[in-house]
Amino acid sequence: MGNVAVIGSQWGDEGKGKIVDWLSSRADVVVRFQGGHNAGHTLVIDGVEYKLSLLPSGIVRGGKLSIIGNGVVVDPWHLLKEIDGIRAKGIEVNPANLMLAENATLILPVHQAADRALEAAREDAKAGSKIGTTGRGIGPAYEDKVARRAIRVCDLQHPEMLKEKIERLMLHHNALLKGLGADTIDPDKVYDDLMQISGSILQYAGVVWKRLEEARVKGERVLFEGAQGIMLDVDHGTYPYVTSSNTVSASAASGSGVGPRSVNYVLGITKAYTTRVGTGPFPTEQQNDVGEYMGQRGKEFGTVTGRKRRCGWFDAVLVRQAVKVGGIDGIALTKLDVLDGLDELKVCVGYELNGERIQHYPASQLHQAAVKPIYETLAGWKESTRGARSWADLPAAAVKYVRRIEELIEAPVTLLSTSPEREDTILMQDPFLAA
Ligand code: GDP
Ligand code: IMO
Ligand code: MG
Repeated sequence: MGNVAVIGSQWGDEGKGKIVDWLSSRADVVVRFQGGHNAGHTLVIDGVEYKLSLLPSGIVRGGKLSIIGNGVVVDPWHLLKEIDGIRAKGIEVNPANLMLAENATLILPVHQAADRALEAAREDAKAGSKIGTTGRGIGPAYEDKVARRAIRVCDLQHPEMLKEKIERLMLHHNALLKGLGADTIDPDKVYDDLMQISGSILQYAGVVWKRLEEARVKGERVLFEGAQGIMLDVDHGTYPYVTSSNTVSASAASGSGVGPRSVNYVLGITKAYTTRVGTGPFPTEQQNDVGEYMGQRGKEFGTVTGRKRRCGWFDAVLVRQAVKVGGIDGIALTKLDVLDGLDELKVCVGYELNGERIQHYPASQLHQAAVKPIYETLAGWKESTRGARSWADLPAAAVKYVRRIEELIEAPVTLLSTSPEREDTILMQDPFLAA
């Protein structure tokens, strides 16, 4: 029995939070390894809704350790707010069940200012060209990390050095903000604000790679929790309409400090149709009654920004590609119940590009926008699948739909989710036993 990584296989919001919460009953440690509070994960447990952005979704189960790995960009003020929010719902959070990697990068208010100013500049340059980011400073924070000027959690221990680092960082950013016509930010204020919360943050700081090595030696089970989805991966997604981290399963290792062999099973979370928030190509998008039907039934509004999610048919070409580049072993298919009542269902099985049929999603921005989906039509079902807890409860047409998806994406459906509730989940194969 080994460790499992959970990743999104589309454009995010596939239902990762629900599945991680469900699987975490089998895990000892749950680790976030990339992204930041751009993620929005909704969990429903006995009718109570929990919304998480930065905290690992395992936090709502007692008796296990939640870790925020080095690959995550952490807004420290947001982290403290989220901890307060979840405590108010009766969940215990303390240094015994939450650890923050000492080498994680911090998101500062300047990153949010830069995020907003850069989006406005893109839109000014050409209407409709903004990425539609969550505005949470994710991109600018990752830029600083790669440029080797970021402030990290461990820097909070050294006030003198921190002050110097902030001054250097703000020299860079204030020049940029000025150039973009935005207000500059006083480095002294950034320093003072950070010093006010440094103690509250440092109490969670720890050496994550060492704790994970301990887990390996003790035979503890680790669940790696991805955010976003493969089509938002900075290399493999719909660049430049992506997020600024690698969302593929390989990041689980680098984003937490373990070797690649520590991830023994990759579970891809996949919605039974497709959604996307923000700008960018979406070949199977349905800007019509079908898209509205999916959006209404699936309550497709963003957790983080409240934006309406764009909806469309299942794209098997795109998910097959995600299965390959993400090394996905099995799929958790979610929100099948949303499709109840449709007369027929379409699934994209190939694209047409410049009069030719292709079987993969090309990298070129122009080609990604130009591909036309080729559909296969399957029968819908009238019965309700909502809340189904066994394969036998599903109508024959729904079973056929799932089986056809498995064939097309070349991966087995090992879990099926039929409502937002934790327990409305059908298990075909336990990922931890397969790991
Ligand atoms: P994540 O970002 O991948 O964790 O997904 P989100 O939480 O942003 O979005 C998924 C939404 O669908 C949440 O509101 C979940 O409560 C809900 N959800 C998850 N699984 C199911 C399901 O099988 N059926 C229905 N109807 N809703 C689901
Ligand atoms: P979860 O974990 C859906 C999208 C944004 C935007 C693009 C870049 O809930 O699945 P960013 O703020 O990251 O620079 O925005 O990525 N995006 C998401 N879309 N689900 C998410 O996370 C997302 N996180 C970022 O809408 O298009
Ligand atoms: Mg989400």
